[in-house]
Amino acid sequence: MTVGIYFATTTGKTEDIAERIAGLLGGVETPKDMSDVDDLSELCAHDAIICGIPTWNTGADSERSGTAWDTILDEIGELNLSGKKVAIFGLGDSSTYTENYCDAMEELHRYFQQAGATMVGYVSPSEYTFDESKSIIGNSFCGLPLDEDSESDMTDDRISQWANQLKSEISGL
Ligand SMILES: Cc1cc2nc3c(=O)[nH]c(=O)nc-3n(C[C@H](O)[C@H](O)[C@H](O)COP(=O)(O)O)c2cc1C
Repeated sequence: MTVGIYFATTTGKTEDIAERIAGLLGGVETPKDMSDVDDLSELCAHDAIICGIPTWNTGADSERSGTAWDTILDEIGELNLSGKKVAIFGLGDSSTYTENYCDAMEELHRYFQQAGATMVGYVSPSEYTFDESKSIIGNSFCGLPLDEDSESDMTDDRISQWANQLKSEISGL
């Protein structure tokens, strides 16, 4: 059982959270920056993948992250990830960017789903304050939204709850 953690970042917050989540889960690989991944097929070697993505390209329909993820979305969609579990966490700012809170998660979610992955790690929006997010699917966020700009005091609780959720959703973790 191998679990990979991948992230992209502009100012380092998504990397910091990736390391904190890895510490909470234990037994997962050292988080890796997508900018350092030359061959995407390495994703297929894992049984489960956790991906961290910030939102920078405010209001954009596509390439919402503004990071290395944007350039490989099509390639992700072409992978064969059937039988693999994938969970996404997103960094954003629910106060300043309340109309577009963590919008990039949904884009990444869509391409991993296209690759046949089983998506896990969905989160209820009931404990969040924001106006709109493209990352709401049905009644849930399609991953874990985190706000280190305006609500960093809530991050510890959010990531530890999510780590427990992933332990129940990804067998062997
Ligand atoms: C110019 C700019 C645009 C941003 N756009 C959004 C946005 O549309 N939605 C959102 O939730 N957060 C937005 N943010 C907040 C970032 O996503 C947030 O600061 C995040 O923690 C950055 O992560 P990183 O340090 O890993 O790059 C924006 C921040 C800046 C400075």
